[in-house]
Amino acid sequence: MSGPSTGADGDANDRARYDQARYVEGDQYEPLLSEKDLTRVEIDDEDDDSPLPDDLTRDSVELPELSEPELVRHYTRLSQMIYGIDSGPYPLGSCTMKYNPKFTEDVAALSSGAVHPDRSESSVQGTLELMYRLQDYLGRIGGMDAVTLQPPAGAAGEFVGIRIAAAYHEHNGEGHRDEVIVPESAHGTNFATAALGGYDVVSLPSNDEGRVDLEALEAALSEDTAALMLTNPNTLGLFERDIEEIAEMVHDVGGLLYYDGANLNALLGRARPGDMGFDVMHYNVHKTFATPHGGGGPGAGPVGVVDELAPFLPAPRVRAGDGDAGYELFDPDHTIGKVHGYQGNWLVLVKTFAYIARLGDEGLLDASAKAVLNANYLANRIDYEVPYEPFHHEFVASAGEQDAADVAKRMLDYGVHPPTTKWPEIVPEALMTEPTEVESKDTLDRLAAAFNAVAEDDDETLEAAPERTTARRIDQTSAARSPRLSWQALGEDES
Ligand SMILES: Cc1ncc(COP(=O)(O)O)c(C=O)c1O
Repeated sequence: MSGPSTGADGDANDRARYDQARYVEGDQYEPLLSEKDLTRVEIDDEDDDSPLPDDLTRDSVELPELSEPELVRHYTRLSQMIYGIDSGPYPLGSCTMKYNPKFTEDVAALSSGAVHPDRSESSVQGTLELMYRLQDYLGRIGGMDAVTLQPPAGAAGEFVGIRIAAAYHEHNGEGHRDEVIVPESAHGTNFATAALGGYDVVSLPSNDEGRVDLEALEAALSEDTAALMLTNPNTLGLFERDIEEIAEMVHDVGGLLYYDGANLNALLGRARPGDMGFDVMHYNVHKTFATPHGGGGPGAGPVGVVDELAPFLPAPRVRAGDGDAGYELFDPDHTIGKVHGYQGNWLVLVKTFAYIARLGDEGLLDASAKAVLNANYLANRIDYEVPYEPFHHEFVASAGEQDAADVAKRMLDYGVHPPTTKWPEIVPEALMTEPTEVESKDTLDRLAAAFNAVAEDDDETLEAAPERTTARRIDQTSAARSPRLSWQALGEDES
């Protein structure tokens, strides 16, 4: 797709000129606190009445002695040598990194949220009410009858969903079903979930439009089908228009339809997976409801199901007791068991609740409208081709003759985070882009200027990128397979 090039935004190099901070002292980057000014603190143990055995105690400890400004500046400098969602846009398609509003952090930090998980039900009625209401919100948003809040991430939610499907088939004497169908464009976690759940994974090709190929689906379905896992819009951002027919085909052979909720922000308030015929789904709350991503710490991936599957949900769940009984925990009749300590990552769920409650119906509608508008605006302003349309909240551009990985590295030089690259493979040299609903027009223009400047860059520049960041090009395989987790001196191999 092409649109007005960088000219419309002024020269991209000027507009997006960027140099990441490099704090250097002597022969290394910002020294560690422990390297700054070591002070040995003696512990006076004369009156030590510690019950700990002598060989487990010590009488001195090395601690850096620093003033508050030195401490704060150290962490501020470190934060300037990296890129994060608080420093600029992060248009990762599918793996969406959305800005997390600070008010939800405030709500999660309220002292009333710090309840011990072992407290009696009668003394944590407020906590249980929040969980109950969140189950209800999510159920209504997804068109699901019952929800568990326990799973700690989207992928964990998928696994719970597939375990529920397995328990359901087993319960109905259909434990022989041993196949899960996954479109070839699906997220890697879908394949992994099905395999980890003990199923044979049947990969489903896409048609020329980038959607589910109905003939291929017909051929893949059989009495061995346990489930079809699908996201809608799919990973190309395209709405699966035949979803009702797909649901009917899956149900006709006795299979279940699983919804990967990663793309729910495109539908919020407009369409519901439950109404499309999905039986079980997970909610990626970090994508849809602006909570932190589970990959970087505690996350959440609640799972919703239709009535028929509710008895198999993890235990315990929260319900409103009869009359004045208040809220209580209960174990569903055929529960698959516990999948997380207590009720899941509670404070992430508090943030989810706060976000939904603050936005309300109108706000959620506005979020999905802006998610789709922003993706379409950005796609129309970049010079790279977008082969599949019309898309919703994300689009997949092709880097064409350029290497998508080089494009990504070079975008860092313009002060923006790159999109997801090289996936889905249906698009050659894929640049999978999701600006999200939280970005302004100005930020989208800055992103477009960066894309378009990189589109003009020659091979030599691309291969040398990034050149304006603190760390230059790293060997990604080594970084993933044998990460070096200690601080390094300047000039050492940066891989
Ligand atoms: C389509 C899709 N499904 C599932 C997941 C897995 O979610 P999580 O990263 O929360 O485990 C992702 C990644 O975020 C995704 O993009």
